[in-house]
Amino acid sequence: MDQCLHCRGLQRLCRFLLLQKFSSQSNFDRQMYHYGTFPEGFSWGISSSAYQIEGGWNADGKGPSIWDRFTQTTNTIPDNANGNVACDSYNRLNEDLYMLRALRVKSYRFSLSWSRIFPDGTRKSLNQKGVDYYNRLIDGLIAYNIEPMVTLYHWDLPEALQKVNGWESAEMIDIFNDYCDFCFATFGDRVKFWITINQPQTIAWSGYGLGNMPPNVVDPGYRPYIVAHNLIKAHAKAYHTYDDKYRQLQGGLISIALNADWFEPADVNVVREVVTADRAMQFQLGWFAHPIFKNGDYPDALKWQVGNKSEIQSLPQSRLPSFTEEEKNFIKGTADVFCVNHYTTRVVSYFTAALQPHSYESDRDMREAEEPDSPTTAIPNQKAVAWGLRRLLNWIKEEYGDPEIYITENGAAVEWDDFERVMFYKAYIDEALKANNLDGVRLRGYTATAFMDSFEWLYGYKFLFGLHHVDFTNPDRPRTPKYSAHYYYNIIKDNGFPLPDDEKMLHDCRQTGLVHHSFDTSSAQPLRLSTNCPSQNGCTDQVSLTLLSSNTQKVRWPAVWKY
Ligand code: BGC
Repeated sequence: MDQCLHCRGLQRLCRFLLLQKFSSQSNFDRQMYHYGTFPEGFSWGISSSAYQIEGGWNADGKGPSIWDRFTQTTNTIPDNANGNVACDSYNRLNEDLYMLRALRVKSYRFSLSWSRIFPDGTRKSLNQKGVDYYNRLIDGLIAYNIEPMVTLYHWDLPEALQKVNGWESAEMIDIFNDYCDFCFATFGDRVKFWITINQPQTIAWSGYGLGNMPPNVVDPGYRPYIVAHNLIKAHAKAYHTYDDKYRQLQGGLISIALNADWFEPADVNVVREVVTADRAMQFQLGWFAHPIFKNGDYPDALKWQVGNKSEIQSLPQSRLPSFTEEEKNFIKGTADVFCVNHYTTRVVSYFTAALQPHSYESDRDMREAEEPDSPTTAIPNQKAVAWGLRRLLNWIKEEYGDPEIYITENGAAVEWDDFERVMFYKAYIDEALKANNLDGVRLRGYTATAFMDSFEWLYGYKFLFGLHHVDFTNPDRPRTPKYSAHYYYNIIKDNGFPLPDDEKMLHDCRQTGLVHHSFDTSSAQPLRLSTNCPSQNGCTDQVSLTLLSSNTQKVRWPAVWKY
């Protein structure tokens, strides 16, 4: 049943209060460093996806995907790069397993290449060699006590399915379900964490609105909504299949990975700006999360905006399709935990967008800007705004009834120096810790992106997210842990950031009021390295190197360092 207006009003009020609570934080408060550890059993992971690392694009009977077709024909990717070989993980499984073990992660998030398993997308084309590869990977992980976190679909749709209209067609719901059913039956004895779809918002908007990603359909006003509708139903159907046929026997959980930026209002004291920021959240995250985690239906903000615009545009009906009551009941509650991919924060303000051309982007009535006070990363529009993660997690807690949350992707491409990546993780993971320890967010896992330098979609190999370097010029694709891998290893080992002994006295003084001003902000807290690092080279050289280059002040990470 839909919530009453009173409850909805209250919920919105809670979100406003939440924004106000945080937005009155001073910059100093925002950067305060919080010492502490995550709860026992916290799932520390690292991620990859099939097309980005596997290579072997046509090996052993694999069928082509829409990303194979796109990268092999477009000239829009830097250096005309593609994933034909990528990190060659299809042939270097043992190296990957070794690196994961050395990093001591608790989970590994990877995706299955649908067209490696079903070359034409359907069961009749089953490719046993593809299944064998994933069996070896999963068995290897289990042998090392690493939980496989498996994404069933990370953008690489079998090309054969695109030829029959892909996600624009409602037939995809059953086709996807059959593929998932096969994977549950085949791998579910060992896989206990399933993610149906990675970032459906990206598929709908970049694939069918902007058209810069495959299948490159440029139709900003209509098809993103149609495609999203089918993706939501496909997810729900796969969830029910797992629930009905496999859960009892296999005892795993299933969810969907949703991408969410944090949208900060340009002025938190202006109600219209706060409403705009909330609407931005609803258009990106709520588009999928509201039906799945709330009532089976789209958020009001989406229904009103698209409905009103469509009316003014003299269209016979809203461009946003609607769910039947039966569909709503089928969709709501179809995720066991909340999985969120997060990269950046944007500042938004109200703006009356043009009515033409029809577009999801203008349906939002907002303008976006960069957060002015945060360091840049290599990717334009992706500033590193760590405090945005804490706000996002709190927003999810308020909006979706305090679910258990897994951060299923978080990371940065850095321009010249892995030291910036270390700072990124240090600051972001500390904000996740604050959300968990100070705000009561039920955070259950954190996944760093990426396992290794990989094919980064539209950026090719130009902007890299890896904690391991891959030499793409060498046919053997040698991998080397970066300084960030050592750093992440230590965070995992410590389960967060325990208060160091030499700070305990200060901390105690502060607690008793003897010291009034804390200086353990993220700027001043030193980086600590363990001698226990997984690299064969040792890390001393890399440390002094990175410290040197941090002096160049190219980015504005808080600049004080002590050693
Ligand atoms: C994708 C990842 C990718 C990351 C950085 C995310 O949106 O899900 O596959 O590695 O962006 O490009």
